[in-house]
Amino acid sequence: MKISIVGTGYVGLVSGVCLASKGHDVICVDVDQQKVAKINAGQPPIFEEGLEALLQSVIGRKLSATVDLASAVKATEVTLIAVGTPFDGNHIDLTFIEQACRQIGAAIAQQEKYHLVVVKSTVVPGTTDGIVLTTLQQCSGRKAGRDFGVGMNPEFLAEGVAIRDFMNPDRIIIGGIDQRSQQTLRQVYACFPDVPVMETNTRTAEMIKYASNSLLATLISFSNELANLSVTLGGIDCTEVMKGVHLSEYLSIRQNGKSIPAKITSFLNPGCGFGGSCLPKDVKALVAQGRQHGQPMNLLDQVIKINQGQPERMIEILMRHMPELQGRTIGILGLAFKEGTDDMRESPAIPIAKALLQRGACVLGYDPIAMNEARHRMPEGTIFATDLDQVIQDADAMMLITRWDEFRNLPQILQDLGRPDLLLIDGRRLIDKQAVENYDGIGLS
Ligand code: UGA
Repeated sequence: MKISIVGTGYVGLVSGVCLASKGHDVICVDVDQQKVAKINAGQPPIFEEGLEALLQSVIGRKLSATVDLASAVKATEVTLIAVGTPFDGNHIDLTFIEQACRQIGAAIAQQEKYHLVVVKSTVVPGTTDGIVLTTLQQCSGRKAGRDFGVGMNPEFLAEGVAIRDFMNPDRIIIGGIDQRSQQTLRQVYACFPDVPVMETNTRTAEMIKYASNSLLATLISFSNELANLSVTLGGIDCTEVMKGVHLSEYLSIRQNGKSIPAKITSFLNPGCGFGGSCLPKDVKALVAQGRQHGQPMNLLDQVIKINQGQPERMIEILMRHMPELQGRTIGILGLAFKEGTDDMRESPAIPIAKALLQRGACVLGYDPIAMNEARHRMPEGTIFATDLDQVIQDADAMMLITRWDEFRNLPQILQDLGRPDLLLIDGRRLIDKQAVENYDGIGLS
């Protein structure tokens, strides 16, 4: 099929490259001329495992990029909208969605043939059959359902493994305002014959996305609330508690006498909190939508509050060992919000560094991938280490924030560098507590 995709952020670009590699003819559209030039030169503007190789295999053949949205729409049968939907504290900002719809509508006005417009961006329930549909109608002078279709197709890509997730989806949600929209959208995904497909209306599709991310966030905050009580009570390691919980038949399967944990258990672990561009934003947006409609979302409200408290928990643990932080150098291991990405949005490393700086500590940050990004995002005053060894040599204590593989060898590296007694506060409980002499972490008392 001929598909245009508006927005070349990580959702748009990953979707474009993957759909092109599945045989579709894809045109990626972005307002940023520099991004477009990079993509056309086979250079992805973001870091994502496997993206560069896949882009280079399709660019100029099955995929091209342009700033000319109208021509891209006219040259294709389906347009996917994958622009950003930032959260401004009260609601998600639909400016980019509206802008895209106005331009797509104007392009539809110029053509006779049926065109399907699909929202891929995460938008609160009621957006697609509301502002999207009406803007398209107004700007095209055509009627939705009769002259063009409208769909909603949420994405479930986790950063760092987005290519793998797109190529091996767990589900495909086809939201549409009518059967024709759904059928056309189904054809886009006909190249994934063995994947469960669910057809529904656009509002339900929108809610499925929020429900999925809110569940993950809830499991994390649930684990963290238990971790915090375990510490208060004393004598309980909450990581062990959660391991015991994972063994339940609801969360593991037994094979050859072994218990294999389900993937969901990777969200049931104590830690310094969730970050990224999705979980915090999506939960806040749903809470805000509930508030606006007179339906308080008490549980999800607490999910956010618990998460916001976790960075301070890290400081409390550190101060149990080091009551005076003034003038001490604290190494922060991992600045990205999670491993496998250079994305620092809402990373717990940011509030943790701020809290340390406020208490007069010197913050020495290190990340194997996100150093460039960190230079704009970390609070002023942060010093950046050239490598892990420098942190170990210069720090008075270290806090582990991101589950990078490189950090798994810390016990050995501490020995090798002659600093076996350096204090490590493990915000992800990545390291075996017995393997480091001076160890503490979230959920440990
Ligand atoms: C998340 C979802 O996992 C994807 O399914 C979804 O498609 C995506 O949002 C999206 O909406 O686009 P992502 O934000 O890339 O993906 O990251 P996750 O792997 O979910 O991790 C989110 C945060 O939770 C990270 O900061 C991670 O460190 C943290 N986390 C994870 C915990 O604090 N505790 C845990 O037990 C697990």
